[in-house]
Amino acid sequence: MIDSDLVPKRTLYDGTKMPAIGMGTFGSDRYSAEEVSKAVEGAIEIGYRLIDCAAVYGNEDSIGKVLERVFQKKEIVREDLFITSKVWNDMHGQGDVLLSCAKSLKDLKLDSIDLYFVHWPFPNYHAPGCDGNSRNPDSKPFCVEEFMKTWRQCERLVKMGLVKHIGMSNMTIPKLEAVLPLCNIQPAACEAELHPTFQQEELFTYLKAHQIEPIGFSPIGSPKRPDRDIFPDDFTDIAMPQLVEIANAHKVHPALVCIKWAVQRGQTPIPFSIHKDKYLNNLKCVIEDPLTAEEMKVIRTLERNNRLIKGQVFLWPGADSWRDLWDMSGVITK
Ligand SMILES: NC(=O)c1ccc[n+]([C@@H]2O[C@H](COP(=O)([O-])OP(=O)(O)OC[C@H]3O[C@@H](n4cnc5c(N)ncnc54)[C@H](OP(=O)(O)O)[C@@H]3O)[C@@H](O)[C@H]2O)c1
Repeated sequence: MIDSDLVPKRTLYDGTKMPAIGMGTFGSDRYSAEEVSKAVEGAIEIGYRLIDCAAVYGNEDSIGKVLERVFQKKEIVREDLFITSKVWNDMHGQGDVLLSCAKSLKDLKLDSIDLYFVHWPFPNYHAPGCDGNSRNPDSKPFCVEEFMKTWRQCERLVKMGLVKHIGMSNMTIPKLEAVLPLCNIQPAACEAELHPTFQQEELFTYLKAHQIEPIGFSPIGSPKRPDRDIFPDDFTDIAMPQLVEIANAHKVHPALVCIKWAVQRGQTPIPFSIHKDKYLNNLKCVIEDPLTAEEMKVIRTLERNNRLIKGQVFLWPGADSWRDLWDMSGVITK
């Protein structure tokens, strides 16, 4: 059991406090809803207070049963937890965001969600568990007007009291530049892939400068990511020799170095595991034995532009490669 008061906190733009580490709940097409929700129950018991959920992970109803049990025990009240969810890409249409949020609330058995994300910035979706070559012919490139229609619905959810904050995910600086001036309610956070070999320094700095909290997904380099997201040239963060050396110096698994680095750098990692020893160590490592300034400098050199969740299954007809999703030329790819 970790004293959750000792876990570092982030302050959102409106002063709300959020734990600086959370528990992921995407089973990567490998773990069942029962396995993931049982881990969420164990995680809350040992001190996690931020749980990162999403409609598309297919386990919010199981997690809801866990949350109900947790609150029944009365040791933890709703305000102690920070629960996120996300609208999936097939629910961006007019009226659909409200329906999707209502379904997540019903499944999670909550009156409100602390932070509700637009999971991807376009309405392109793939079948669950699809392979990497799968393409949906209805997919489209990013469109500011379409995105803002979705965002306006999210803003309405805040006004209705159904969600406390709203956020974006899988964004790029060109996309943020286009939409931020149009927002009536600013995003409180942005979920982005962040790990030692993919630090996204420019995006990280941009988000911090705009008081948008960077939440780092795949913080360990997602060693169990779905098969469709595994490519021969990918780097494995936890096998990088310098990282292994730092781990040896601290007598911990390299995964814990990734997590310590994330929290000390200033993002909020949301590592996933259903295994108690791992999720316990993931939380515990942020309150003890910090990395030295020198070690932080060494990890800075591990940047390899190693995007692992490339998103190729969201490509639209006529797109060249997954790079088109990430506006690598500095302008929005059309
Ligand atoms: N917004 C988005 O688009 C988006 C995209 C991807 C992910 N996410 C969120 O981010 C969360 C985390 O991402 P992720 O699951 O891709 O990657 P991750 O947390 O980097 O990696 C998870 C894997 O790392 C292993 N692991 C965890 N702790 C470990 C430890 N202490 N020692 C050794 N191995 C350890 C686990 O292996 P075992 O399974 O063997 O325990 C687990 O399957 C997701 O669950 C989801 O909530 C969001």
